[in-house]
Amino acid sequence: MLAYLNGSFLARSSATVSVEDRGFIFGDGVYEVWRVVNGRLFETERHLARLAFGLRELRIAAPESLTVGGIEQIADRLLRESGLENGEATFYVEVTRGAAPRAHQFPVASTPPTVYATVNRFTPPEELRARGATAITIPDIRWLRCDIKTIQLLPNVLAKQAAVEVGAVDALMVRDGVVTEGSHANVVGVLDGVIRTHPTNHLILPGITRAIVLDMARGFGIPVSEEPFTEADITRLDELFLAGTTTDVMPIVRVNERPIANGTPGPITLRLLDEFRAYLDASCATAHVAR
Ligand code: PDD
Repeated sequence: MLAYLNGSFLARSSATVSVEDRGFIFGDGVYEVWRVVNGRLFETERHLARLAFGLRELRIAAPESLTVGGIEQIADRLLRESGLENGEATFYVEVTRGAAPRAHQFPVASTPPTVYATVNRFTPPEELRARGATAITIPDIRWLRCDIKTIQLLPNVLAKQAAVEVGAVDALMVRDGVVTEGSHANVVGVLDGVIRTHPTNHLILPGITRAIVLDMARGFGIPVSEEPFTEADITRLDELFLAGTTTDVMPIVRVNERPIANGTPGPITLRLLDEFRAYLDASCATAHVAR
Protein backbone atom coordinates (compact mmCIF):
# COMPACT_ATOMS: atom_id res chain seq x y z
CA MET A 1 0.00 0.00 0.00
CA LEU A 2 1.08 3.48 -0.82
CA ALA A 3 1.00 6.35 1.64
CA TYR A 4 1.13 10.14 1.35
CA LEU A 5 3.22 11.97 3.92
CA ASN A 6 3.87 15.72 3.87
CA GLY A 7 3.84 16.07 0.10
CA SER A 8 5.56 12.77 -0.81
CA PHE A 9 4.17 9.44 -1.97
CA LEU A 10 5.96 6.39 -0.58
CA ALA A 11 5.41 2.79 0.51
CA ARG A 12 3.39 2.79 3.71
CA SER A 13 6.05 0.66 5.40
CA SER A 14 8.60 3.44 4.76
CA ALA A 15 6.37 6.31 5.89
CA THR A 16 7.64 7.46 9.28
CA VAL A 17 6.97 10.49 11.47
CA SER A 18 9.12 12.09 14.13
CA VAL A 19 8.95 10.73 17.70
CA GLU A 20 8.33 14.37 18.60
CA ASP A 21 5.21 14.54 16.46
CA ARG A 22 2.44 15.99 18.59
CA GLY A 23 0.12 13.33 17.27
CA PHE A 24 2.39 10.70 18.85
CA ILE A 25 3.07 12.67 22.05
CA PHE A 26 -0.31 14.31 22.74
CA GLY A 27 -2.85 12.87 20.31
CA ASP A 28 -2.87 16.45 19.01
CA GLY A 29 -4.57 16.07 15.64
CA VAL A 30 -7.67 15.21 13.64
CA TYR A 31 -8.57 12.60 11.04
CA GLU A 32 -11.18 11.58 8.50
CA VAL A 33 -12.20 8.32 6.87
CA TRP A 34 -13.87 8.33 3.45
CA ARG A 35 -15.64 5.45 1.77
CA VAL A 36 -14.43 4.75 -1.75
CA VAL A 37 -16.30 2.82 -4.45
CA ASN A 38 -14.53 2.11 -7.75
CA GLY A 39 -11.92 4.77 -7.10
CA ARG A 40 -14.38 7.56 -6.27
CA LEU A 41 -14.65 9.20 -2.86
CA PHE A 42 -18.05 9.33 -1.22
CA GLU A 43 -19.09 12.75 0.11
CA THR A 44 -15.72 14.44 -0.48
CA GLU A 45 -16.88 17.90 0.56
CA ARG A 46 -18.69 16.88 3.72
CA HIS A 47 -15.73 14.97 5.13
CA LEU A 48 -13.41 17.80 4.16
CA ALA A 49 -15.68 20.36 5.84
CA ARG A 50 -15.66 18.29 9.05
CA LEU A 51 -11.87 18.05 8.90
CA ALA A 52 -11.61 21.83 8.40
CA PHE A 53 -13.97 22.36 11.36
CA GLY A 54 -11.78 20.16 13.58
CA LEU A 55 -8.63 21.99 12.49
CA ARG A 56 -10.26 25.34 13.24
CA GLU A 57 -11.48 24.21 16.66
CA LEU A 58 -8.00 22.93 17.56
CA ARG A 59 -6.34 25.95 15.93
CA ILE A 60 -4.14 23.85 13.67
CA ALA A 61 -3.26 25.70 10.45
CA ALA A 62 -5.12 24.11 7.53
CA PRO A 63 -2.60 22.44 5.19
CA GLU A 64 -2.75 23.71 1.60
CA SER A 65 -3.29 20.20 0.24
CA LEU A 66 -6.67 19.93 1.93
CA THR A 67 -8.86 21.35 -0.81
CA VAL A 68 -11.38 19.24 -2.72
CA GLY A 69 -9.02 19.11 -5.74
CA GLY A 70 -5.96 18.47 -3.57
CA ILE A 71 -7.54 15.66 -1.59
CA GLU A 72 -8.97 14.02 -4.71
CA GLN A 73 -5.57 14.05 -6.36
CA ILE A 74 -3.94 12.46 -3.33
CA ALA A 75 -6.68 9.83 -3.05
CA ASP A 76 -6.61 9.09 -6.77
CA ARG A 77 -2.88 8.38 -6.84
CA LEU A 78 -2.97 6.34 -3.62
CA LEU A 79 -5.86 4.25 -4.93
CA ARG A 80 -4.37 3.72 -8.40
CA GLU A 81 -0.90 2.82 -7.23
CA SER A 82 -2.25 0.55 -4.48
CA GLY A 83 -4.41 -1.36 -6.97
CA LEU A 84 -7.64 -0.12 -5.38
CA GLU A 85 -9.29 1.72 -8.27
CA ASN A 86 -11.94 -0.97 -8.46
CA GLY A 87 -14.16 -2.28 -5.72
CA GLU A 88 -14.44 -0.98 -2.19
CA ALA A 89 -11.84 0.87 -0.20
CA THR A 90 -11.37 3.48 2.50
CA PHE A 91 -9.26 6.63 2.37
CA TYR A 92 -7.76 7.84 5.67
CA VAL A 93 -6.36 11.33 6.27
CA GLU A 94 -4.72 12.53 9.46
CA VAL A 95 -3.39 15.99 10.30
CA THR A 96 -1.40 16.69 13.46
CA ARG A 97 0.04 19.90 14.90
CA GLY A 98 3.46 18.75 13.67
CA ALA A 99 6.75 17.84 15.36
CA ALA A 100 8.24 20.00 18.11
CA PRO A 101 10.03 19.52 21.46
CA ARG A 102 7.50 18.28 24.02
CA ALA A 103 5.66 21.17 25.68
CA HIS A 104 1.92 21.32 26.21
CA GLN A 105 1.36 24.74 24.68
CA PHE A 106 1.33 25.11 20.90
CA PRO A 107 4.75 25.07 19.21
CA VAL A 108 5.99 28.11 17.25
CA ALA A 109 3.61 29.09 14.48
CA SER A 110 6.12 28.12 11.78
CA THR A 111 5.85 24.41 12.77
CA PRO A 112 4.30 22.68 9.74
CA PRO A 113 1.39 20.33 10.45
CA THR A 114 1.99 16.66 9.63
CA VAL A 115 -0.31 15.40 6.87
CA TYR A 116 -0.63 11.66 6.39
CA ALA A 117 -3.00 9.78 4.08
CA THR A 118 -3.44 6.18 3.06
CA VAL A 119 -5.93 3.75 1.53
CA ASN A 120 -7.12 0.30 2.49
CA ARG A 121 -9.23 -2.41 0.89
CA PHE A 122 -12.70 -2.55 2.46
CA THR A 123 -14.89 -5.63 2.63
CA PRO A 124 -18.47 -4.86 3.64
CA PRO A 125 -19.63 -7.34 6.31
CA GLU A 126 -22.63 -8.53 4.28
CA GLU A 127 -23.29 -11.68 6.26
CA LEU A 128 -23.27 -9.85 9.61
CA ARG A 129 -25.58 -7.21 8.18
CA ALA A 130 -28.10 -9.79 7.10
CA ARG A 131 -27.99 -11.51 10.48
CA GLY A 132 -27.65 -8.42 12.64
CA ALA A 133 -24.92 -7.63 15.15
CA THR A 134 -24.75 -7.72 18.93
CA ALA A 135 -23.70 -4.88 21.20
CA ILE A 136 -23.01 -4.09 24.82
CA THR A 137 -23.47 -0.80 26.68
CA ILE A 138 -20.55 0.96 28.32
CA PRO A 139 -20.14 4.27 30.17
CA ASP A 140 -19.21 7.15 27.82
CA ILE A 141 -16.02 8.39 29.48
CA ARG A 142 -15.01 10.76 26.67
CA TRP A 143 -14.29 14.50 26.89
CA LEU A 144 -16.93 17.12 26.09
CA ARG A 145 -15.89 17.84 22.49
CA CYS A 146 -16.90 14.57 20.82
CA ASP A 147 -18.01 16.69 17.83
CA ILE A 148 -14.33 17.06 16.88
CA LYS A 149 -12.91 14.01 15.10
CA THR A 150 -9.65 13.94 17.03
CA ILE A 151 -7.13 11.11 16.87
CA GLN A 152 -7.44 10.77 20.66
CA LEU A 153 -9.57 7.64 20.53
CA LEU A 154 -8.62 5.86 23.75
CA PRO A 155 -12.18 5.66 25.18
CA ASN A 156 -13.38 4.41 21.77
CA VAL A 157 -10.57 1.84 21.65
CA LEU A 158 -11.41 0.59 25.16
CA ALA A 159 -15.13 0.47 24.33
CA LYS A 160 -14.59 -1.58 21.17
CA GLN A 161 -12.16 -3.90 22.96
CA ALA A 162 -14.68 -4.48 25.76
CA ALA A 163 -17.24 -5.47 23.11
CA VAL A 164 -14.85 -7.79 21.29
CA GLU A 165 -13.85 -9.49 24.55
CA VAL A 166 -17.43 -10.62 25.14
CA GLY A 167 -18.02 -11.57 21.50
CA ALA A 168 -20.07 -8.43 20.66
CA VAL A 169 -19.59 -6.27 17.60
CA ASP A 170 -19.69 -2.86 19.25
CA ALA A 171 -20.27 -0.96 22.46
CA LEU A 172 -23.00 1.67 22.78
CA MET A 173 -21.72 4.49 24.92
CA VAL A 174 -24.02 5.85 27.64
CA ARG A 175 -23.64 9.28 29.28
CA ASP A 176 -26.00 10.33 32.09
CA GLY A 177 -28.33 7.47 31.18
CA VAL A 178 -28.53 8.53 27.51
CA VAL A 179 -27.17 6.51 24.56
CA THR A 180 -24.71 8.75 22.69
CA GLU A 181 -22.99 6.68 19.96
CA GLY A 182 -20.97 3.56 19.20
CA SER A 183 -17.18 3.23 19.30
CA HIS A 184 -16.92 4.40 15.67
CA ALA A 185 -20.46 4.88 14.42
CA ASN A 186 -23.64 6.73 15.38
CA VAL A 187 -26.52 4.88 16.99
CA VAL A 188 -30.10 5.09 15.74
CA GLY A 189 -33.16 3.49 17.32
CA VAL A 190 -36.80 3.11 16.35
CA LEU A 191 -39.16 3.60 19.27
CA ASP A 192 -42.93 3.51 18.87
CA GLY A 193 -42.51 3.96 15.10
CA VAL A 194 -40.31 7.06 15.46
CA ILE A 195 -36.62 7.11 14.52
CA ARG A 196 -34.72 8.40 17.54
CA THR A 197 -31.08 9.42 17.72
CA HIS A 198 -28.85 11.72 19.74
CA PRO A 199 -28.87 15.32 18.49
CA THR A 200 -25.68 16.67 16.92
CA ASN A 201 -24.11 18.58 19.77
CA HIS A 202 -20.75 18.41 21.57
CA LEU A 203 -21.50 14.87 22.84
CA ILE A 204 -21.38 13.02 19.50
CA LEU A 205 -19.63 13.14 16.16
CA PRO A 206 -21.97 14.63 13.54
CA GLY A 207 -21.84 11.54 11.35
CA ILE A 208 -22.20 11.92 7.62
CA THR A 209 -23.85 8.51 7.26
CA ARG A 210 -26.23 9.47 10.09
CA ALA A 211 -27.23 12.69 8.30
CA ILE A 212 -27.83 10.90 4.98
CA VAL A 213 -29.84 8.09 6.55
CA LEU A 214 -32.01 10.51 8.57
CA ASP A 215 -32.72 12.55 5.41
CA MET A 216 -33.66 9.36 3.59
CA ALA A 217 -36.01 8.32 6.38
CA ARG A 218 -37.69 11.75 6.36
CA GLY A 219 -38.06 11.39 2.58
CA PHE A 220 -39.89 8.09 3.11
CA GLY A 221 -42.25 9.79 5.53
CA ILE A 222 -40.83 8.00 8.58
CA PRO A 223 -40.92 10.36 11.59
CA VAL A 224 -37.46 11.31 12.86
CA SER A 225 -36.78 12.80 16.26
CA GLU A 226 -33.31 13.90 17.28
CA GLU A 227 -34.22 13.25 20.86
CA PRO A 228 -31.88 10.66 22.34
CA PHE A 229 -33.15 7.41 23.78
CA THR A 230 -31.97 6.22 27.16
CA GLU A 231 -30.26 3.01 28.21
CA ALA A 232 -33.55 2.05 29.90
CA ASP A 233 -35.38 2.55 26.56
CA ILE A 234 -33.21 -0.06 24.79
CA THR A 235 -35.37 -3.01 25.80
CA ARG A 236 -38.46 -1.20 24.43
CA LEU A 237 -36.93 -0.40 21.01
CA ASP A 238 -38.58 -1.73 17.85
CA GLU A 239 -35.29 -1.53 15.95
CA LEU A 240 -31.70 -0.45 16.47
CA PHE A 241 -28.82 0.17 14.08
CA LEU A 242 -25.39 1.74 13.74
CA ALA A 243 -24.54 4.24 10.98
CA GLY A 244 -21.02 5.10 9.89
CA THR A 245 -18.54 5.23 7.04
CA THR A 246 -17.13 1.75 7.67
CA THR A 247 -20.42 0.46 9.07
CA ASP A 248 -23.01 1.72 6.55
CA VAL A 249 -26.26 0.71 8.24
CA MET A 250 -25.63 -2.18 10.61
CA PRO A 251 -28.64 -3.75 12.36
CA ILE A 252 -28.13 -4.41 16.08
CA VAL A 253 -30.32 -7.29 17.20
CA ARG A 254 -29.09 -7.92 20.76
CA VAL A 255 -27.83 -5.56 23.46
CA ASN A 256 -26.34 -6.93 26.67
CA GLU A 257 -27.63 -10.40 25.70
CA ARG A 258 -31.22 -9.18 25.36
CA PRO A 259 -32.95 -9.20 21.98
CA ILE A 260 -34.21 -6.02 20.31
CA ALA A 261 -37.86 -6.80 19.42
CA ASN A 262 -37.79 -10.32 17.96
CA GLY A 263 -33.99 -10.39 17.61
CA THR A 264 -33.84 -9.94 13.83
CA PRO A 265 -33.11 -6.81 11.74
CA GLY A 266 -36.23 -4.62 11.55
CA PRO A 267 -38.01 -3.40 8.40
CA ILE A 268 -37.01 0.28 8.67
CA THR A 269 -33.39 -0.72 9.26
CA LEU A 270 -33.39 -3.07 6.27
CA ARG A 271 -34.96 -0.46 4.02
CA LEU A 272 -32.42 2.17 5.05
CA LEU A 273 -29.60 -0.35 4.64
CA ASP A 274 -30.67 -1.05 1.03
CA GLU A 275 -31.35 2.57 0.16
CA PHE A 276 -28.07 3.73 1.65
CA ARG A 277 -26.15 1.12 -0.33
CA ALA A 278 -27.88 2.21 -3.54
CA TYR A 279 -27.17 5.88 -2.79
CA LEU A 280 -23.51 5.15 -2.03
CA ASP A 281 -23.06 3.29 -5.32
CA ALA A 282 -24.98 5.84 -7.39
CA SER A 283 -23.21 8.77 -5.83
CA CYS A 284 -19.74 7.26 -6.37
CA ALA A 285 -20.62 6.32 -9.95
CA THR A 286 -21.15 9.98 -10.79
CA ALA A 287 -18.55 11.52 -8.45
CA HIS A 288 -15.78 13.62 -9.86
CA VAL A 289 -12.46 11.90 -10.36
CA ALA A 290 -9.28 13.97 -10.30
CA ARG A 291 -7.32 12.69 -13.26
N1 PDD B 1 -15.63 6.68 12.51
N2 PDD B 1 -19.14 8.42 15.67
C1 PDD B 1 -17.84 8.16 15.86
C2 PDD B 1 -17.29 8.22 17.23
C3 PDD B 1 -17.02 7.85 14.76
O1 PDD B 1 -15.72 7.60 14.95
C4 PDD B 1 -17.60 7.76 13.46
C5 PDD B 1 -16.78 7.43 12.25
C6 PDD B 1 -18.97 8.03 13.33
C7 PDD B 1 -19.68 7.97 11.99
O2 PDD B 1 -19.39 9.09 11.21
P1 PDD B 1 -19.40 9.00 9.61
O3 PDD B 1 -20.71 8.49 9.23
O4 PDD B 1 -19.21 10.41 9.18
O5 PDD B 1 -18.27 8.08 9.23
C8 PDD B 1 -19.71 8.36 14.45
C9 PDD B 1 -14.66 6.38 11.48
C10 PDD B 1 -15.22 5.63 10.34
C11 PDD B 1 -13.47 5.68 12.13
O6 PDD B 1 -13.09 6.12 13.22
O7 PDD B 1 -12.92 4.74 11.57
